[in-house]
Amino acid sequence: MSNGVSAIVETPETPFRLTSFARCAGCAAKLGAGDLTRALSGLPIHLDPRLIVGRETFDDAGVFVLSDDLALVQTVDFFAPIVDDPYTFGQIAAANALSDVYAMGGEPLTALNIVGFPAGQLPLEVLTEILRGGQDKVREAGAVVVGGHTIIDEELKFGLSVTGRVHPQRILSNAKAVVGDRLVLTKPLGTGLLATAAKRGNLGTEEAAALYASMCKLNGAASREAIVVGVQCATDVTGFGLLGHSSHIAAASKVTVVIHADRVPFLPGARAVWEAGTRTGGAERNAAYLESRVDWGNATEVQHALLIDPQTSGGLLVAVPAARVAEYLEAVPTGVEIGEVVARRSSGLVLA
Ligand code: CO
Ligand code: CO
Repeated sequence: MSNGVSAIVETPETPFRLTSFARCAGCAAKLGAGDLTRALSGLPIHLDPRLIVGRETFDDAGVFVLSDDLALVQTVDFFAPIVDDPYTFGQIAAANALSDVYAMGGEPLTALNIVGFPAGQLPLEVLTEILRGGQDKVREAGAVVVGGHTIIDEELKFGLSVTGRVHPQRILSNAKAVVGDRLVLTKPLGTGLLATAAKRGNLGTEEAAALYASMCKLNGAASREAIVVGVQCATDVTGFGLLGHSSHIAAASKVTVVIHADRVPFLPGARAVWEAGTRTGGAERNAAYLESRVDWGNATEVQHALLIDPQTSGGLLVAVPAARVAEYLEAVPTGVEIGEVVARRSSGLVLA
């Protein structure tokens, strides 16, 4: 051992815990949708005809047109460690950042790393492993890391700004759901609760493995298959939870979204850790935002909690034309039909 710091790091019995360098878990640290809306409301919108998807529709990424058949999709996402293994953290952060390009129907091209690193408190090898995880995931997506920026930060943070391309006529937007569309969710929920339980040492190895596999999985296939079956509207489910992101579709498309709470898939252990008392600050912020926007129906308390659970690297929520649902579900076997789009009612979001 070459210095005092590495004494903790290199002793196998007492490994350092990456998540102890995070104040909260992953997208659970996202500023609440209500606060974000209030902050942005004080900012003038500069209209530019080339910006065809901006912040008005709460979409996943901005879209900037270059020519009749080519537009750039741009997005950024970063957060504090949601897992203790640096390589896995890098993979999850990259899958999560790439997801916003997929949610717009785009193909990722380039990525820039964004790093906050507690220099002196963690060995540089940790940073190398995080970046390696991110780079491997970006390569898996067919894109390339072109650079990045690193600052010294008390709280470890990692993420990426991703640029992709999309045909301007084939953008998947929150604003294009139509009455009759079926809603398909492509990954089970529960990452916020499960990651929080794991951070406290309260998650079994099997549940943890399923959680990490889900968060590492790219949404590329779910996105490409959506375009194949003529989908026009999709989003990815991240910090605002299933209901938060559904509410953005309802508002942007001027429809009501009906979700069958009993059909929504959860990751193994999600229900159990909630029942054992795990809670997240992100869910509290989501609940405050959604309380008046949702007709809660007969949803149980645990369903309520899971439907607003903030997701990190969650799946896509895809509004599939009814006639093509079977085809989509066959192409995306993890997909589950959880609801449908109906004509606008008094409430934009209804649990059935
Ligand atoms: Co998103
Ligand atoms: Co995002």
